[in-house]
Amino acid sequence: MKYILLVLLLIFTESQSQVLVTPRIQCRTKKCEGDNFCFQGYCTPCDGPRSIWTKRKPQWGTKIGEALNVPAYSNYGDLDVQDKNKDEYLLDSQINFGEEIYIGQKYQCVHYARRFWVSQYNTTFGSVDRAEQIFDLQEAYNFDTKQNIQLKKFLNGGIEPPQQGDLLIWQKDNGEFPYGHVAVVIAIDIVSASPHVLIAEQNYDQAWDTRNFARALKVSIGENKEIIVSNNRQTFPNKDDLKCRDDEITSQGVILGWVRLEIQ
Ligand SMILES: *[C@@H]1O[C@H](CO)[C@@H](O)[C@H](O)[C@H]1NC(C)=O
Repeated sequence: MKYILLVLLLIFTESQSQVLVTPRIQCRTKKCEGDNFCFQGYCTPCDGPRSIWTKRKPQWGTKIGEALNVPAYSNYGDLDVQDKNKDEYLLDSQINFGEEIYIGQKYQCVHYARRFWVSQYNTTFGSVDRAEQIFDLQEAYNFDTKQNIQLKKFLNGGIEPPQQGDLLIWQKDNGEFPYGHVAVVIAIDIVSASPHVLIAEQNYDQAWDTRNFARALKVSIGENKEIIVSNNRQTFPNKDDLKCRDDEITSQGVILGWVRLEIQ
C-alpha cells in the first residue's frame, strides 16, 4: 500500500512539475501555432532545429544536392559577385557545338537555373544582371539546333500551374531578395492535402537535407482555380519541423511567376 502511494505521489509530482515547468501543448488535434513545430506529439520551439540548420555552413563549391542529375553547390560566404574567375562555360562546348556556351557565375541561383536548361535541353538564355530579369526575357537559344525558342511567361495567381523545368522567378525586394531569385521546378502536386511545388536552386539553403530537391513551396488554390505559389515552405504532417526553416523574414519573398521553354 505504501509503495502504491509512493508511486502515485511520484506520478502526481511528475505530472505537476511538467505542467508547471513546461506547459506542453499536444499537437495531434491542433496545429502548432507560432514559431513551434509538432515533435513527437507536442508543440516544440523551432529554435532547436533552426540553430542546427544555421550552423551548417558547407564550404563554397561543396555539392549540396542534386535534382534530375543536375547537382547544386554551396555558395556559402560568397561576397565577391564581380569575380570573373567564377564564370563557367560548358565543357567542350566549342568542340561539340562550335561555340562557347556561357553557363553563369558559380554558384549563384541563375547559374543553377541556366545549367539546368543547358544540361536538360541544350538551351541557354541571355545574360541577366539579376535573377528577376529572367522574367523579362523573350527567348532562349538552343545551341544544338541553333534555333531561338520563345519563352512563355505565367503570372503567379493565374490558372496555369508550373511544370517540371519551368523557372520560378522571385521579385526583387528590400529584404531577402535584393536581386530577385530563380529556382527550377522539379515536381508539382496540387491535388493532395499539402499542395506544393518541389524546387531545385542554389544560393538559398546551403544544404538540401539529402533529398532530391531543395525546398517544397506551399501552393494555394484560389476560388477560380488560381494557382498561388508562395515563398513559404509546405509542411507535411510527419515532417512538420521543416516549417521552422522559414522564419518571418524569409517569408516575405514574392514569386512573380514562371518561365517556360516552348519546346516544339
Ligand atoms: C543535346 O545535344 C547533344 C549533341 O548534339 C545531343 O546528343 C542530345 O541529344 C541533345 N539533348 C537534347 C535534350 O536535345
